Amino acid sequence: MPIASLFATRVYKGRFAPKLRDDLNERLLRECRQLRLDDAAGRRWSTANYSGGYTSYASANRMHAMSPTFARLENLLGPHVSRLVRDLALDLRGRKLAMTDCWVNIMPRLMVHGSHLHPLSTLSGTYYVQTPAGSAGLKFEDPRLVQMMASPPRKSTAAARSQTWVVMPAEAGGFFLYESWLRHEVTASTGRGDRISISFNYSWF
Ligand code: NI
Repeated sequence: MPIASLFATRVYKGRFAPKLRDDLNERLLRECRQLRLDDAAGRRWSTANYSGGYTSYASANRMHAMSPTFARLENLLGPHVSRLVRDLALDLRGRKLAMTDCWVNIMPRLMVHGSHLHPLSTLSGTYYVQTPAGSAGLKFEDPRLVQMMASPPRKSTAAARSQTWVVMPAEAGGFFLYESWLRHEVTASTGRGDRISISFNYSWF
């Protein structure tokens, strides 16, 4: 076809092997739940800003520097981050791309995390610790949407690359990496039990 596809948006979808996932997630699950118990400031912040759930976004947000288990997750993500950087052809010479933030999210049934991006960061992502059946995926929005005032809607049968929103399923042991300007949201989960994830930012210093 004489049609080029330009300015493509990348979403890196990775997954750890079952044995590694089970070992890592057992520890992470324990630490995430313990953190919620210990982190009174985070629980207060969540009551005001994270309706119905718990996040350590504003309180314990450097977990990779606090816990060997989270540091291990950071190490395991490293090669995948490098692959995304290569695919994006980012020229990172002269400064280092490093994990700056890493926090816990516990979302109960029917909780929503509205559309947002991660300002002041380079790459962002989420790793899934627990995803009961019915857990919402991660919904990404076409970053060109604000420029599409008179653009017709897309066919519901269109390929993902042509859709305006794409939901990628969340699965325990799996993770997404993407550029921090890419808008995303979490719609309501219908399953029983908490959807537990760990989100992180990388910045280029
Ligand atoms: Ni986010």
